[in-house]
Amino acid sequence: MTVLICYATEHGSTREIAGRLAERLREAHHPVDVRSLSGQEEDRPDLTRYEACVVGSAVHDGAWLTPAAAFVRDRHTDLAARPVWMFSVGMTAALPRLLRGLADRGEQRPLVELQQLVRPRDHHRFSGTIRPQHLSRTGRILFRLLGCRYGSYVNGAEIALWADSIAAALPRTPGPTGPSRVRPTRPPAPDPLGTVPPAPGGATVESGRSSQPPLPEG
Ligand SMILES: Cc1cc2nc3c(=O)[nH]c(=O)nc-3n(C[C@H](O)[C@H](O)[C@H](O)COP(=O)(O)O)c2cc1C
Repeated sequence: MTVLICYATEHGSTREIAGRLAERLREAHHPVDVRSLSGQEEDRPDLTRYEACVVGSAVHDGAWLTPAAAFVRDRHTDLAARPVWMFSVGMTAALPRLLRGLADRGEQRPLVELQQLVRPRDHHRFSGTIRPQHLSRTGRILFRLLGCRYGSYVNGAEIALWADSIAAALPRTPGPTGPSRVRPTRPPAPDPLGTVPPAPGGATVESGRSSQPPLPEG
């Protein structure tokens, strides 16, 4: 079963997460193609080549980036005909704890609309990377006033766990030495950015919140 992972990114963390998901699924012997969604019709992947799809986007101002949202809206019939997983990449982990719930709720309405179109098996919210140069001057002032902290919050263990939940739901693809030699996936590798235990309830929770301390910066 070939899996398509497609994503829209502005500053690269969503691409990084898509790449790590692909790596993990390949370790579980699932063929995977990774494609960036540029918004150009001719760049859109041909869904008929794939039996399952994982689609993700960076979150800006509470919504998915246009190329990813448009892809889901335009291809919802094809998407809904196969197993779909969705992921969002925001900066929840950069916020003070008290504000994290608000940030997640802010994203919900536009996302629920997309979810209703394709009925994903799961949606997971990851935290990405936020740096001063990503924000406007006003955005930087607001960021500081809210008590947010710049850094990379990409959590390898969280990504691996979520990928494993997807791999477990896909039919097994025989490995090079046949089905009897297909190994269960190894436990998540330690996160090179700092080990963080997954949120209670494992990788299928909606929050994707991380208690990971930010890399000191700025
Ligand atoms: C202009 C702008 C708006 C953003 N708005 C949100 C938001 O509403 N909610 C959120 O959780 N993160 C928000 N972020 C943070 C990004 O989603 C986060 O940095 C993410 O890692 C970006 O993914 P990317 O590196 O793939 O572009 C915003 C970032 C920028 C630059």
